[in-house]
Amino acid sequence: MDVIICRDDDEVGAYAAAKVAKVAEAAQKVGKNVVIGVATGSSPLATYTALAALIQAGKLDLSQASAFALDEYVGLPAGHPQSYREVIRRTVAEPLGLRPERVHVPDGFAQDLERAARDYETAIRDAGGVDVQILGVGSNGHIGFNEPTSSLSSRTRIKTLTAQTRNDNARFFDSSELVPQHCLTQGLGTIMDARHCVLVASGEGKADAIKAVVEGPVTAMVPGSVLQLHPKATVIVDQRAASKLELIDYYQHMYQNLPDWQRVVLA
Ligand code: F6R
Repeated sequence: MDVIICRDDDEVGAYAAAKVAKVAEAAQKVGKNVVIGVATGSSPLATYTALAALIQAGKLDLSQASAFALDEYVGLPAGHPQSYREVIRRTVAEPLGLRPERVHVPDGFAQDLERAARDYETAIRDAGGVDVQILGVGSNGHIGFNEPTSSLSSRTRIKTLTAQTRNDNARFFDSSELVPQHCLTQGLGTIMDARHCVLVASGEGKADAIKAVVEGPVTAMVPGSVLQLHPKATVIVDQRAASKLELIDYYQHMYQNLPDWQRVVLA
């Protein structure tokens, strides 16, 4: 696992975008349309802003890319402003110029949710798998909406959100009671199939989760800790989210001494 410690959230976004761009360019070089896994929430917003800037500057083209969202609330009708389909449209698809038919979100309003979950797995497979997955982390260590005790090999399925997650997400709704109880989420096994994983986090509120994800034991109690088993996982955090890491000096030293070929070049 690579850990990159940045000055602030903007730099987190710039590094994550550079990483995603690198994967996209490598895919394009072999004639492949890149498949990007996208998260909602506050954490990846700076990444999407930085990606949009690269596109505007003519340094990146994602017009042929596909995107798969990590998750969706159950029961929010089409067009609900807080449905992840809408959030992804506003914050990812439009700013990055993705074609709507190539942007996929689990169908949390389906009559048959189990079938919708299976169909989502099939759609990811049919697209050739996710090349690079952008992740945030919940204050309880969840990735996607895989709450503590999620199976480390789980696939896309229905999950019940914890009270902590519903409280954390209440800021997007008028009250925490209005946050749906259930979601469809890619499983940890689904996320682990992505060829690269890039987790971004900023702020003190994420410091405990980052410590547990990066340095704690691999445990279903901290679902993000499964990334320790991923061969190409990069955790990009600001100083505050990094503040509880025991080996913080080592990560900083390692990054300052990276060979050029491993370095991600900022725009
Ligand atoms: C969202 C998602 C979640 C969030 C996490 C952090 O699609 O999968 O895992 O990444 O809840 O949310 P923020 O970034 O809002 O703190």
